[in-house]
Amino acid sequence: MSGNGVVLGLVGSPNREGRTNRLVRAALEGAAMAGAATELLQMSERVVAACKDCLPWVCAEKRKCTYDDQAFELLSEKVLNAGALILGTPVYWWDTSAMVKYFILKMFRVHARSAPLQGLPAFGISIAGGTGNGLVSGLRPVYHFFQIMQMRALDPVPATRFNFAGAENRAREMGGIVAAMRHKRHPFTGLEERLLWYDQLPYLGLSRAEERRLLASLAALALPEDRSGKLVSGLARADTLRAGGDKMASMVEITKCYDAGAKALAG
Ligand SMILES: Cc1cc2nc3c(=O)[nH]c(=O)nc-3n(C[C@H](O)[C@H](O)[C@H](O)COP(=O)(O)O)c2cc1C
Repeated sequence: MSGNGVVLGLVGSPNREGRTNRLVRAALEGAAMAGAATELLQMSERVVAACKDCLPWVCAEKRKCTYDDQAFELLSEKVLNAGALILGTPVYWWDTSAMVKYFILKMFRVHARSAPLQGLPAFGISIAGGTGNGLVSGLRPVYHFFQIMQMRALDPVPATRFNFAGAENRAREMGGIVAAMRHKRHPFTGLEERLLWYDQLPYLGLSRAEERRLLASLAALALPEDRSGKLVSGLARADTLRAGGDKMASMVEITKCYDAGAKALAG
């Protein structure tokens, strides 16, 4: 058994009824269906204080923050003892929420050196619930956390309003997959395998232009077939322009498709 075998879901949003909570809950449902014990924690009830980067750097040896931070104690203990981790963040300003970032940064300072999470199965969920911008860039800090802590991260789930139902299903499915791995750690043979592993995960390597195209395609696909055709051909035009070297015209075309899709879905 790895840790206590529990599949732990962290909700990095202040909203108990929000989309981040729903997606993490879906993932935990999938884990429970696979037979795992699960636990959900709303991080807003335990917001970690900013790391002071203090010197001398003794917290990495003591494996404890020098300052009294009950929220960090609780959250870090839960993660250190878990059999698998699911971390969901709302996308704020194309990035993770502050409470997720503060937790990550303190985990680096206190625990990255001793690497107690080596091989822990994990996956991340982002929800860009407004415009949809940042659905991938909001995931990157989460996967950087997994990578630095040497966890065995699985495919991310980027969600927006446009693909929410599909993302919930995907989160449920991924919850089952991560649960099946909870009994043991899955460490990397070395840094090389770890870097290559993270490089092959979907979405995370997209350029900004590709991220925007992904978003426009999600908006197009959310429309009924008789209305999505124009947008799909617009995206094909954008691809042709890009292949021909006209990146700006391609981006303009993508934006047109996105705007039309978002407008149609709002109306
Ligand atoms: C400060 C702030 C910044 C936000 N920035 C973005 C953004 O960059 N992209 C986006 O799609 N939505 C953005 N949103 C919308 C949230 O992603 C959306 O409301 C999401 O559903 C929040 O998660 P929750 O439902 O768990 O509260 C932002 C919301 C707030 C409060």
